[in-house]
Amino acid sequence: MTHASALALLGGPVEHRRTAPKYPRFTAAAYDRVREALDRGPMQGLSKGHPIIAELEERLAAYHDVELALATSSGHGALQSALIGLEITGGDEVLTSPYSWGASVSCILHNGAVPVFVDVSPETGLIDPSALAAGLTSRTRAILVPHLYGQPADMTAIMSFAEAHGLVVVEDGSQAHGARHRGRRVGGFGEAGAFSTNGVKPLATTEGGYLVTRVADVYWKATISGQHAGRGELIGRASEPGFPDELRQHIDSMVYTYRPNIVTALLTLDRLPYVDAENAARRRNASALFAALDGVGSVSWPSHDAQDECVYHMVTLNFDAEHAGVSRDTYLAALNAEGVPAVAYVANGLHRSPRLSPSYDGPRVMWTETLRRAGVDPNAAELPGCDEKVARSIEIPWNHFEDDPESMASLARAFAKLEEGLDHLRRHERSGVAARSETASA
Ligand SMILES: Cc1ncc(COP(=O)(O)O)c(C=O)c1O
Repeated sequence: MTHASALALLGGPVEHRRTAPKYPRFTAAAYDRVREALDRGPMQGLSKGHPIIAELEERLAAYHDVELALATSSGHGALQSALIGLEITGGDEVLTSPYSWGASVSCILHNGAVPVFVDVSPETGLIDPSALAAGLTSRTRAILVPHLYGQPADMTAIMSFAEAHGLVVVEDGSQAHGARHRGRRVGGFGEAGAFSTNGVKPLATTEGGYLVTRVADVYWKATISGQHAGRGELIGRASEPGFPDELRQHIDSMVYTYRPNIVTALLTLDRLPYVDAENAARRRNASALFAALDGVGSVSWPSHDAQDECVYHMVTLNFDAEHAGVSRDTYLAALNAEGVPAVAYVANGLHRSPRLSPSYDGPRVMWTETLRRAGVDPNAAELPGCDEKVARSIEIPWNHFEDDPESMASLARAFAKLEEGLDHLRRHERSGVAARSETASA
C-alpha cells in the first residue's frame, strides 16, 4: 500500500495520534509534604538551616558526585550564580555555544562579561572542542558548555583545553540531568554545573534550578545571590556553618537573588529518585525509534561515544534536503500535519541575534552598553557548523519517560509515510513556490 497521496498535509488522515503521558508526575506523598510545609513555614530566606533545603542540597550534591549544591529559583538563576561564584564579570570573555537556549548567553551578559561564540558539531550541535582555540584571547576566563538535548558534550577534550589555558568551566546541564560522559554525570566536570528544573526538563518540577560545585569558594560566593539578607537562624545563607567571615559584610540586599522556594524543593526531592529510570526509558524509546527509522533516508541522527549516555530531553534529527528534494521547513510542516510534535528548536544561531549587533537600536537592556563598549560584533562570527545544524535540525520533545513501543511504531509510521510521499511533497512545495512567485510579480 502506498500512503503517498494520503499525506495529512495534503488532506489525508493524520498518522500519529498518540500523545506523551502527563509529565511531570508527583507522588501522593509529595502533595502531603507540600501541604504540611506550607502550613508550617517558614517560606522566606531559606538556606541549609531549613531541613528540607538541607536534604535537597545534600541529595543533589550526592547525585552529581560533588561536595556542594545550591538550590535556585531557575536554571537561569543557577547559571548566573555560577558566574557570580566564579567572579566572571566586567572585561572577562566566556567561550560559549551559539547553538543553545539563550540563557547560556544571557547569564554571561547579565554578569557584565562578554560571550565569545565558538563553533559546534553540525551533527550534535554540541561545542566542537577543536573550535575552542579560535575564540581564545588574553581576556578569556571561562568556557560555558551546554549539554543540549540531553547529549553530553565531550568534557574530556573540553577540560583538557581549559586546563591547558587556565580557564574555568561552567556546564549548563539544564537539559541533561543524569547524562553521562565516560561514566560520569555531567555537571561535576567543571568548577560549576547549572541545572534548570522547570516543568519540561528531565528533572522537572514547577520552576526551579540548582547549582552544583566541588569548590567551596564558588559555593559561598554564589550564595551572595542566593539568599534574602538576614542573620537569623533560618534566614539566609550567612547562618550556614562554614560561611566565610570575610563575605559576611557583603550579605545585603544590593544584588539580584535567585532564592529557592519550599514547594519546588519538595517537588525536586520527590522527582529525583525517578530520574535515572525515566532516562533509561527515554533511551530505550529513542533506540526503538531509530531502529524503526532505518530506511527513512530523509533523516539521520547523531551517534555518540559508546561510553556516553544521552538522556534525550529531545531527540535531535538531521534532515537531508538533497535526499528529500524539499526544504526542511516543508518536511517539518508535513511531519506536524501527521501529528508529530517536531520543531526546529534553535531557529537561528544565537550569535546572529540582532540584539548583539553594534548597530542594534532597539530597546536597551542592562548589558547593551557593556557589549557596545567591548567593541565586539558577534553577528560577524563565521560558524559554519552552527549554520549547518540550524538549517537541517529537527527536534522531537521527548517526554517518553515510560516504555512506549506503540508510540514509537506510530512515530516511525509517520516518517515512513512521508518518505513514500516525497514526490507528492515535492510537487506541493513547487506549486507553493510557483504560486508565491506569481503573487509577488503580480
Ligand atoms: C540549555 C538551557 N539552559 C538554561 C535554561 C534556563 O532554565 P530556566 O528556564 O529554568 O531559567 C534552559 C531552559 O529553559 C535551557 O534549556
